Formats: sequence, structure tokens, C-alpha cells
Amino acid sequence: MANDASAAFDTLSPAVFKGSLADPFTPPADSSLWRKNFLFGAATASYQIEGAVDEDGRLPSIWDTFSATPGKVLAGDTGAVACDHYHRWEADIDMLASLGLEGYRLSIAWPRVMDAAGRPNRKGLDFYKRLLNRLKEKGITSFVTLYHWDLPQHLEDRGGWLNRDTAYRFADYADLMSRELAGTVDAWATLNEPWCSAYLGYGNGHHAPGLANDRFATQAMHHLLLAHGLAIPVLRGNDPASQKGIVANIGRGTANSDSAADQRAAHLFEVQHNAWILDPLLKGEYPQDLFELWPGTEPLVLDGDMQTIAAPLDFLGINYYFRTNVASDGAHGFRDVPLEGVERTQMGWEVYPDGLRDLLTGFKKTYRNLPPIYITENGMASDDKVIDGHVDDAQRISFLKRHLAAVDQAIKAGVDVRGYFLWSLMDNFEWAFGYERRFGVVHVDYSTQKRTVKRSAELAAKFLKERKARV
Ligand code: FCB
Repeated sequence: MANDASAAFDTLSPAVFKGSLADPFTPPADSSLWRKNFLFGAATASYQIEGAVDEDGRLPSIWDTFSATPGKVLAGDTGAVACDHYHRWEADIDMLASLGLEGYRLSIAWPRVMDAAGRPNRKGLDFYKRLLNRLKEKGITSFVTLYHWDLPQHLEDRGGWLNRDTAYRFADYADLMSRELAGTVDAWATLNEPWCSAYLGYGNGHHAPGLANDRFATQAMHHLLLAHGLAIPVLRGNDPASQKGIVANIGRGTANSDSAADQRAAHLFEVQHNAWILDPLLKGEYPQDLFELWPGTEPLVLDGDMQTIAAPLDFLGINYYFRTNVASDGAHGFRDVPLEGVERTQMGWEVYPDGLRDLLTGFKKTYRNLPPIYITENGMASDDKVIDGHVDDAQRISFLKRHLAAVDQAIKAGVDVRGYFLWSLMDNFEWAFGYERRFGVVHVDYSTQKRTVKRSAELAAKFLKERKARV
């Protein structure tokens, strides 16, 4: 999750790597990850990898506008070229397949496939058709996200997610895509991380479109969730055989002390990061504590909206990256209290696998109708270098191993987790941090576009091969 720290480019704490360099990646014999039906894949997103932003009729998105605005993205980077995946997709899919990855989570760029009048853009659509057909030929399970943050700029010009109409435009877009791509998609996710779209986009302005107002954030969230709820029955109607769901980022908040005020602060952190999204989806209501945190920010909700939003889901995608240690801010909120001496990544995010287990087991208790879960993103950034043709990403190997163990623990505690996608297949445009932060299991040299498989990907491939060979 590109988090609140994204404006503070220079606040990295030193990474203290706690794992062992000799850590083998392969899960222990009793791990549920050996189950052959546990899907193991990798994820990407359109704006982060495709490039080709003005080719074949693609319209500008809010991220083109935002990244062109001085001071918004580290080093002035943009997604104009990115990994040039729009031209290199065949080789990239071959690479994915050669690693034995069984699932691929990608997103569709809305401004590539529809014009401003809502008409299909054939060239853009054909790109995704070719790609999805290729995945099918290779037997790779496809998870397609409709919205991973690249809103068409013309919709932002009419208010973006602050305008209720955008939710209906999204349902039209979902309708077109599911009519065109039915039969090639295994699972549809409506939105990626509505928390980031609403809060980082409209609440603190660290992401496109860069507005900063708590009331905007709650209203944008409502329209995002409404868009999701309107799209679900449309997807069901057009493509009944596929799974339908949504992807949420979740955050673990722990209290800096035993004081009631700090405990409350940690609770409010998780309300703001998790319940704000999961309660409407799974309970059909907003958590009232949210408006204690942000008084007077209740969104305008029309009759029937909450029922629409709470449409039953086939799966819930969960993205997990780190935990935040918090204390009371002395008023009605929380403030971050970074812990000293803990292991961190290139992002400055704490490595805290127990947070994933604890959140998953907690959700199982809180939500009686919790759908089957896929971990749709998990991974870390490190300052990886190619040395003699190799990338030894020891911290990532250890990170992945520990998070997969946390997933196994959650499964053993009764949570229905069905798969796991590495973030990310390859290094890419990391939003406000541009190209500096490398999340891939494959290294990308942006001056030549050369891909180099990192050690983590080699070891994941080795495990997957061994698992496949088992009878
Ligand atoms: C998530 C985003 C993904 C990537 C990772 C690091 O918030 O969904 O695109 O940026 O964080």
C-alpha cells in the first residue's frame, strides 16, 4: 500500500534485516501451501507497467495528469513508458509461465477501452483480449481488476469520485468489459483498494487527483463502493461462470501502550483502514466510530445504496503490507509512533507478518459472512541491483517466507484463504515513489527494458515445480 508517508520522500528508517540469508523459501512439509488448489500467482496494474499512454486511442487518466504535475511524484517520474508492457506483453507472459506461476492478476486501463462518450475503443479492447486468450492457452488463472486507480481524466473533470454519476459510468464500463471479455476471465475484481483511491486521492492528496479534505474522502469512498455494488450484478449477468469480488488493502494498528487512550487509538486506526470498507461491504453499514474520528464527514447516502454496496461476493481480495504503531493524538484520533529497531523495507514499512494472520483471524470473528479470501497483493520493495546477471534479494525471500507462514497459520485457524499473489511480477511505477522503489520478483532495467529474474522468483518457481510434481 502506498501509504500516508508518500509525500515524505526522505523519511526512510534504516532497514534492519532480521531474516537469515540462508533462509530456504520452500514451505515446511505441513504447510497448507502445498495444497495443489492453493493458487499461487503474481500481480501487476495497468498504469504501473503498460506505458503507451497515448497509443491506439488511449485517453489521459488522472495519473497522467498527476505525475505531470511538478512535485507530486519522486524524481518527476511518470507512467508514460513504465515497463513498456503494452509492447512486450508476450514476452512478459512467457516469463510468468516459465516461472510456473499459476495465476496472474492484472488490471484494465479504463481510458484505454472506452471513449469519452462511453463507446468501446476496439484497439484497446483487443490488447486485453489477446492477453487474456494467451493466459487461457497457457492455463494461467486470470484475476482482472477493473479499476486500479487510472480514472479517465474526462470523468475527473466532471468531479471524479465526488460525482455520484461516476459510479454509474463505472457500471457501464463493467458492462462493456464483461460482455467483451466473458469466458476469458476467471475472476473479476471491481476495485483495487478503495481506501487508497478515497483517502490518498481525496483525503490527503498524496495520490491522484490530489485533493485533500476528509469530507471529500468519505464521499468519494461512498461513490467508489456504490460503483462496486452496481457493477457486481452486471458482471454476474454478463459472465456468470466467473468469480466476482473486490480488493481491499488492510492495515494492522497496534497500540503504543496499555493505556485506554492508546488502545482506542489503535482501534480507530483499524476502523479507518479496514472497517470503513469492510463494514459497508459485509454488513451494509458504515462504522459509526469513523465519524467520531472525522466528525461531520458523513457522506450523502441515498435510499437503497447500502443494500447495493452489500451485494454478495464470491471472494474478497486482501492486500497486506505492514503494521502501524499508534498512540492517541490527545483529541479524537491517532498518531503514528514509529517503533525503533524493527525490520523495515525500502519503503520504510515495518515487516510484520503476524499482522496478516491477526487481521485475517479477526475478520473471521467480526464478519459472519466473510467470503473466501485471496491474498491479492503482498510483497516488499528493496534497492535491488543486478550483479553478474543475478539479483540476490535475500530480504524479499525471507519476507515472503514469513508472510506465507502467516497465511498458513490463518488457514489452520479456520480462515478460508484460497490463493496468494506476489506484488509484483516485476519492478514498476510505484505511484508517488516513481521507479525508485522496486517491488518486483523480476528486476527491470528501465534504460534497456531488460528483465532479470530475481532469486526470490527462482525459488518460488522451484517450489511450484516441486508442488506440481507431487502426486
Ligand atoms: C498497493 C497498490 C499497488 C502497489 C503496492 C505496493 O497499495 O495496490 O499498486 O503500489 O501497494
